[in-house]
Amino acid sequence: MTAQTSDRWVVSPVRSLAGQVGVPGDKSVSHRALMLGGIADGVTSVEGFLESEDCLATLEALRALGVSIDQPSASCVRIQGVGIEGLRGSDQPLDMGNAGTAMRLFMGLLASQNFDSILVGDQSLMRRPMERAAAPLRLMGARIETRDGKPPVVIRGTPALRGIDFKMPMASAQVKSAVMLAALRGSGVTQVTEPAPTRDHTERMLACFGVELQREGSTVSLQGGQRLRGTHVNVPGDFSSAAFFLVAGCIAEAGEIALRGVGMNPTRTGLLDILRLMGADIAVSNLATRGPEPTADLLIRPSKLRGIDVPLELVPLAIDEFPIFFIAAACAEGRSLLRGAEELRVKESDRLATMSEGLSALGVPHRLLTDGMQLEGRGGPGSVFQAGCIDSHGDHRIAMSFAVASLQAGGEIEILDTANVATSFPGFAGRARELGLNLRDGATGVRTSG
Ligand code: S3P
Repeated sequence: MTAQTSDRWVVSPVRSLAGQVGVPGDKSVSHRALMLGGIADGVTSVEGFLESEDCLATLEALRALGVSIDQPSASCVRIQGVGIEGLRGSDQPLDMGNAGTAMRLFMGLLASQNFDSILVGDQSLMRRPMERAAAPLRLMGARIETRDGKPPVVIRGTPALRGIDFKMPMASAQVKSAVMLAALRGSGVTQVTEPAPTRDHTERMLACFGVELQREGSTVSLQGGQRLRGTHVNVPGDFSSAAFFLVAGCIAEAGEIALRGVGMNPTRTGLLDILRLMGADIAVSNLATRGPEPTADLLIRPSKLRGIDVPLELVPLAIDEFPIFFIAAACAEGRSLLRGAEELRVKESDRLATMSEGLSALGVPHRLLTDGMQLEGRGGPGSVFQAGCIDSHGDHRIAMSFAVASLQAGGEIEILDTANVATSFPGFAGRARELGLNLRDGATGVRTSG
């Protein structure tokens, strides 16, 4: 796999960006394609797979559970499904790396097995809350233990789960998905009601595998005991990876960026709506649906952005994009306000605190709130960000966001702890350079291979 070779980037100011790039496959969809393919009857082929560290953790865990998987090329995967009752226990803990999605979805998948499992992860994942998935699974009869609510997660396999009617306390696609995966082997009907719409990749993909589900308003229901049929899955480009180039194209002073084949699932594109409300010039063309997810091509031009009060209903639909949104907001004219985003506190890092620390280091006036942030935008063009050093705290999206800030920076930005960019966007550095960013490997002054 392509790995970043550096733990540190140095990014020098540039003002224009131009070109056409593809974005890598969607991380959420890639995890789900592997898992559902693993428990389906027959073969599943996946095209456009994201070969990143997070998705490879899911792939290796499935192999450890007895699923045979070939990878004829980086973005193509062929899974020999073992059927809904065919997984076998692993004698080793399953290592989810940095991937919260892998851990929470595997909790649902493994709760109903006739063997026990232990789930662990890297330093960041071992600090993240797992009770949000464990609690509803216990209501279904699952036996799951966490340590002070965090990993390691110990699952005592319980094949006789029962359906539940679950009203989710927080808007979380991972929790919704964990319950739905457990419900596949449960008795009776399981219903999950979400407080606000969250990404619906699991629902779309289950339907592709022949599973019948119903959606009524904010409730999804699923009858237990259904089998999955192996299929072909086309993975769209990851909108969350495209997001860095969306903002880059808007805050650049010249040039035009074209992105091809970007996932356009409306439960993911909240940032596009937010940027357009801010005045962004982004054109969408060639909308198409191949497989479970819609895609389109995007053309982004330099834009005069205005500050915004982020509409509350867009928060879950842009939940992974707020680090890069803050960069856009700093470059906009006037004040921006984000509220209702307390979920950012429990991502790969505390993204409100990490972004606040980074914005302070670069001299951007802002106020950190318990559930969001208020920023005073400087309104480019000009040097919105001072030179400075950012600690990404190993959070991939923080590192990539501050690299984009170099388009409105007055001097070099040094970004520490960048290796985890490979968890979601291996090759980011290379693609950013193709478009014109001046991003170097800080350790040697030589450009990274990513
Ligand atoms: C994801 C759901 C979101 C998102 C994460 C991926 C998924 O988390 O932040 O990056 O694939 O289901 P929550 O469901 O916890 O909000």
